[in-house]
Amino acid sequence: MMYTELSPKQLKSMLWWAWDDTRNYDAIVCDGSVRSGKTMSMTIGFVLWSMKNFHAENFAFCGKTIDSLKRNVITPMQKWLEGIVKIKVNLSRNYLDIKMCGHMNRYYFFGGKDESSYQLIQGITLAGVLLDEVALMPRSFVEQALARCSVTGSKLWFNCNPDSSEHWFYKEWIQKRSEKNALHLHFTMDDNYSLAADVKQRYERMYTGVFYDRYIRGLWVLAEGLVYPMFDRNRHVIKNYDNSAVIDYYISIDYGTLNPCSMGLWALEKDKAVRIREYYYDGRRKNIQKTDEEYYQALEQLADGYPIRHVFVDPSAASFITTIKRHGKFRVRKANNSVIDGIRNTMTLLENDRILICECCQDILREFSLYRWDDKKSHEKDTVIKENDHAMDDMRYFVNSAMGRILKEFCRNGGKE
Ligand SMILES: Nc1ncnc2c1ncn2[C@@H]1O[C@H](COP(=O)(O)OP(=O)(O)OP(=O)(O)O)[C@@H](O)[C@H]1O
Ligand SMILES: [Mg+2]
Repeated sequence: MMYTELSPKQLKSMLWWAWDDTRNYDAIVCDGSVRSGKTMSMTIGFVLWSMKNFHAENFAFCGKTIDSLKRNVITPMQKWLEGIVKIKVNLSRNYLDIKMCGHMNRYYFFGGKDESSYQLIQGITLAGVLLDEVALMPRSFVEQALARCSVTGSKLWFNCNPDSSEHWFYKEWIQKRSEKNALHLHFTMDDNYSLAADVKQRYERMYTGVFYDRYIRGLWVLAEGLVYPMFDRNRHVIKNYDNSAVIDYYISIDYGTLNPCSMGLWALEKDKAVRIREYYYDGRRKNIQKTDEEYYQALEQLADGYPIRHVFVDPSAASFITTIKRHGKFRVRKANNSVIDGIRNTMTLLENDRILICECCQDILREFSLYRWDDKKSHEKDTVIKENDHAMDDMRYFVNSAMGRILKEFCRNGGKE
């Protein structure tokens, strides 16, 4: 492994336990921007600290899931520590053994979101734990992991990207760092000397709005105001659409009977997508609810004249999915409904003019100006107000399901999952 020079902050996050002015801390918390070198320097530091101070003890590496832990920490650490320690990995049983200077310790792998990890970690005694991406783990898992650290001299190592300022980890660990006797280091991409300028710029283009503040500036901020403040009629709305570059047509549907039902017809090109027609029906306002069969007729009309590759439907709309299938005309898919990831991806695409809307799609245009974050302080997690969100949801289904290839251009080498 070729190291670039370590930045002062990386060096501190690696060696704080050995330095006079920081050795008495019980924990270290590194937060801040993506790609800022937190995971690498802490992982090396954690191994050096544990190997120097302990023998025949157990430690834990925790990630959001075992898979992400292996990808982000376990696999790269073997390169990072090549020639420094001897590592024997047992990937299938989720642990590794390390030997150094006559000491040997075992390191178990846990995924905060993996059901089985929760039970396994309950029984174990640890001398230290490293939690990579701790803000993505359930609080109960983190607290269980910390409760297992009962060996004298044990220390806790946390790192993460910022989330909402209402997030429990921010309130409990960052704001209360002196109470918890934790050393807090804030990283930015400038603390990673190995990042080339063009890579930094690519990451900066990838995030906008609240996600720029969190992932690039490294700040814990609440999501508030409009969800898509970058939406601009001058940039994103077109009058006449020339379909000569279309690769495929798709329809995305947010289904509702009492609530409005929204359908969007999208033309996907190599580097952008255009919403060219839409259907929007508000059963409550019109005082008449439509049946699945009536909605199906609306879908056929919307698609009329266009070869539709896939229809993406709200995954909870089981009855409507069955109706579409029964007619045997469209290939229907349940849409991926991860809300925050979908919003973040949509923001990236809008910011880079990769989603355009035809002027005739009045309902989505109206929702763009109304769709807001719910910034009530009682929410620990990002929450959107569930009003004026129907065309917004069908757009998100389309982005999550059909725009992956275009998004990759912005997310090469580790966009956040
Ligand atoms: N001193 C260094 N020398 C060489 N490569 C480095 C150095 N520091 C970091 N890197 C590389 O930079 C990339 C980002 O580092 P790392 O994964 O530690 O960042 P991170 O802050 O954990 O990012 P994220 O928040 O996205 O998880 C990695 O590919 C890592 O190997
Ligand atoms: Mg990391």
